Amino acid sequence: MKIVFATNNRNKLKEVQALVPSGIQLLSLADIGCKEDIPETSPTIEGNAKQKAEYVKKNYGYDCFADDTGLEVKALNGAPGVYSARYAGPQKDANANMDKLLNELDGKENRETQFKTVIALVIKDTLKTFTGICEGIITEEKKGEGGFGYDPIFLPNGYSETFAELPLSEKNKISHRGKAVQQLIEFLNH
Ligand code: IMP
Repeated sequence: MKIVFATNNRNKLKEVQALVPSGIQLLSLADIGCKEDIPETSPTIEGNAKQKAEYVKKNYGYDCFADDTGLEVKALNGAPGVYSARYAGPQKDANANMDKLLNELDGKENRETQFKTVIALVIKDTLKTFTGICEGIITEEKKGEGGFGYDPIFLPNGYSETFAELPLSEKNKISHRGKAVQQLIEFLNH
């Protein structure tokens, strides 16, 4: 059975391919000749994940799953949320995004936050969603060189190192994306 993972990130694809049952072959967007930007116009993380998976099913006919992630900060009523990638502007600059967030939280006592990943799977004309959440706090300053995005200012609950300081294998065990992927794999294995 072939399922499309709506991504062009070869690393993400390889990582998940290693976890799915051996009878399932994952295809990337490039593998199915999808070169256009898939619309992501929903105001919610769930909505965007569904929109991407349904787009592939409708236009290319394959069963498909897609993921979407956002960082939700309590004191900012859930911002940047679905706009996490372009919080500081369309150039999607991770440093500028972190600077903006640190500025917005300046002087605020409540620094609680969570990363949320939703994976939407369209399979045999049924839609399933899997949600992974990782709770933590936003640090006062950037720490660590690893990871990407907001990792240097995200301190997961129960840890004294930011996501950018933790080894990737450790991050994957507790991360929002890791948890959502685990649920997807469990579903595909049954
Ligand atoms: P995407 O939906 O996976 O493209 O994620 C949207 C945005 O959320 C990214 O551009 C990053 O800014 C942020 N993000 C997603 N996952 C992570 C993560 O694991 N660490 C830090 N930032 C992340």
